Amino acid sequence: MSDRPLRIVLLGRQGSGKGTQAARLVEYYNTNHVSTGDMLRAAVSEGTELGLKAKAVMDAGELVSDDIMNGIVAERLAKPDVEKGGVILDGFPRTPAQADTLVGILGSDGIDAAVNLDVPVDVVKQRMAARGRPDDTPEAIDRRLALYEQETEPLLEWFGQRGLLVVVDGLGTEAEVFDRLVAAIEMARG
Ligand code: AP5
Ligand code: MG
Repeated sequence: MSDRPLRIVLLGRQGSGKGTQAARLVEYYNTNHVSTGDMLRAAVSEGTELGLKAKAVMDAGELVSDDIMNGIVAERLAKPDVEKGGVILDGFPRTPAQADTLVGILGSDGIDAAVNLDVPVDVVKQRMAARGRPDDTPEAIDRRLALYEQETEPLLEWFGQRGLLVVVDGLGTEAEVFDRLVAAIEMARG
């Protein structure tokens, strides 16, 4: 197994369990969780300039601009905890421009794997409806899922072409999905 810091990208549609599983993975691997959604929600609750800008965009289920997101993530990945302890990226990249930026930061061989947590649309809709975050309205959920198809799904092929894509079945209990994820990550890290 490689001894360099772990660098995993979690892909998967909204409500597929990225945040849930990232929390378990950071504990298991003693690494860092970088969730762009959590960072934006923190900015909203702190009322920062970014938060004020992002709130309406998020509530409508739209994407915050690539420029803003790339800047936030570049800054976060340069911090010593990530440089030393690695990262589980959750919610970034989700556009081709963000994927290019990520490779620019980490280098073309700097990512261990991009894991697609695969959960069908009808199931993610049920999960989000049960959760009730401010952006879990039927309209915003539909918009987020449409943007996922347009902007983020093409990244599966993008990572696939680079030999980095791993697909993990995201159905089942949280513990079952976690075990599959760890097995996939161990395999990718050799
Ligand atoms: P973000 O916070 O990333 O939200 P999202 O994409 O809608 O994804 P979710 O957080 O809803 O899904 P998840 O996969 O984390 O699922 P979870 O673990 O919560 O982004 C929010 C917004 O911020 C975006 O819409 C956009 O505006 C903006 N944004 C963020 N990043 C951006 C970027 N890079 N570029 C531009 N804009 C950006 O699970 C869902 C539910 O299911 C939970 O209730 C959970 O308890 C439950 N659950 C989990 N696992 C299971 C299981 N195995 N069985 C049953 N239930 C389960
Ligand atoms: Mg999440």
